[in-house]
Amino acid sequence: MRLLIRGGRVLDPAQGVDGALDILIENGKIVQTGQNLNVDSAQVLDAGRLTVAPGLVDLHVHLREPGFEDKETVATGCAAAARGGVTTLVAMPNTRPAADCPEIVALVRHKAAPTGVNVLPAGAVTVGQKGQALTDFAALKAAGVPALTDDGVPIQNLNLLRQAMQQAKKLGLPLLDHCEDRDMVQNYAVNEGRVSQALGLPGRPAIAEELQIMRDVMLAEETGAHVHICHISTAKGVEIVRQAKARGVPVTCETCPQYFTLTEDEVLRQGTMARVNPPLRTQADVEGIRAGLADGAIDAIVTDHAPHTAGEKAKPLPDAPSGMVGLETSLALALTGLYHTGLLPLARVLALMSAAPAALLGLDKGTLSPGRDADLVIFDPDEAWVIDKEQFVSKGRNTPFHGRAVRGKVKYTISQGNIIYMEG
Ligand code: DOR
Ligand code: ZN
Repeated sequence: MRLLIRGGRVLDPAQGVDGALDILIENGKIVQTGQNLNVDSAQVLDAGRLTVAPGLVDLHVHLREPGFEDKETVATGCAAAARGGVTTLVAMPNTRPAADCPEIVALVRHKAAPTGVNVLPAGAVTVGQKGQALTDFAALKAAGVPALTDDGVPIQNLNLLRQAMQQAKKLGLPLLDHCEDRDMVQNYAVNEGRVSQALGLPGRPAIAEELQIMRDVMLAEETGAHVHICHISTAKGVEIVRQAKARGVPVTCETCPQYFTLTEDEVLRQGTMARVNPPLRTQADVEGIRAGLADGAIDAIVTDHAPHTAGEKAKPLPDAPSGMVGLETSLALALTGLYHTGLLPLARVLALMSAAPAALLGLDKGTLSPGRDADLVIFDPDEAWVIDKEQFVSKGRNTPFHGRAVRGKVKYTISQGNIIYMEG
């Protein structure tokens, strides 16, 4: 089975490739990239004026299965991924039961196999994500987890976290950490500040995140473990990571479109739709995140795709769950907020969403070099459209971006040589 992607602007930041090229795919792998390839008996996909890039790698996705199939299933989450140009994703373990053993990891992988999306379930750090006993890291590694995390219910016990890092270091597994001090944030709904005051609600302070980032940096430095800070949301948090990197601490971090696009004010306009953990912050924080993306302090853009049902999000702000979907909007929001504003070149935005996250986990993904899996996103970087949650294939409709005008539209998603999404 041969597929020829003809024409198009091929952008492969990992190889420094940017040009009008053809790509030949055979048996799921990239075989050749070049000008005017002469190939007979291949299916031809005319990329014309489109941009052809490595499939997106999303390090932070909640697929919800097993246990919360009313919010999302592996199948619907992967369909959303495909529609968003995502060909590889890391699934968070806060399912029911939690992905704390090889059996659940195997179940998620089994469910994902027919979708064509490369799903890598992260293993839980503690049994049942209860923060009390470490899971069997070696067994999880053998089951194929790319990393460990208790995202959703992050570990607060420092002794346990330190032991987790020591063991993770030995096995070469990164630890992905949601940084927020539980006692400071409790189940509060919004950033602590102007908006929490206006609403008369207790807030989640920025310092609750920053203290734990600082703590993680110090533990990473001491243990030598690779610690990856999840969905960083504050300017000071980014600065802590920047300084740590400068002195060689093995720390990396990610952020999400909501943190470089929206502020806490969105909660006043959209209520629970804008409720997310960590919370949307201030304009100064948005600028800090953008600066971190520009200077490399931030390594990757992820979604933290966190579907919830309409019923749950219809609850009053203090009671509704936190989270927003993101798989079907991340590329457009990144292009709109970072590329079309002139902040970052197109290749850099794409690297933040493919090559960089792949490298961070040591995955053989995120580039179009010959021999690699033929995972591609083909998109129009300029096309203007309006985000419509009713068009989502995710079960989750909980987005604060409904009705937003964006630029950049996915046309085809190809995973291991198979077209897993085609517009229209
Ligand atoms: O907003 C969030 N939602 N943050 C998290 O850490 C977990 C996630 C979820 O699972 O809904
Ligand atoms: Zn989280």
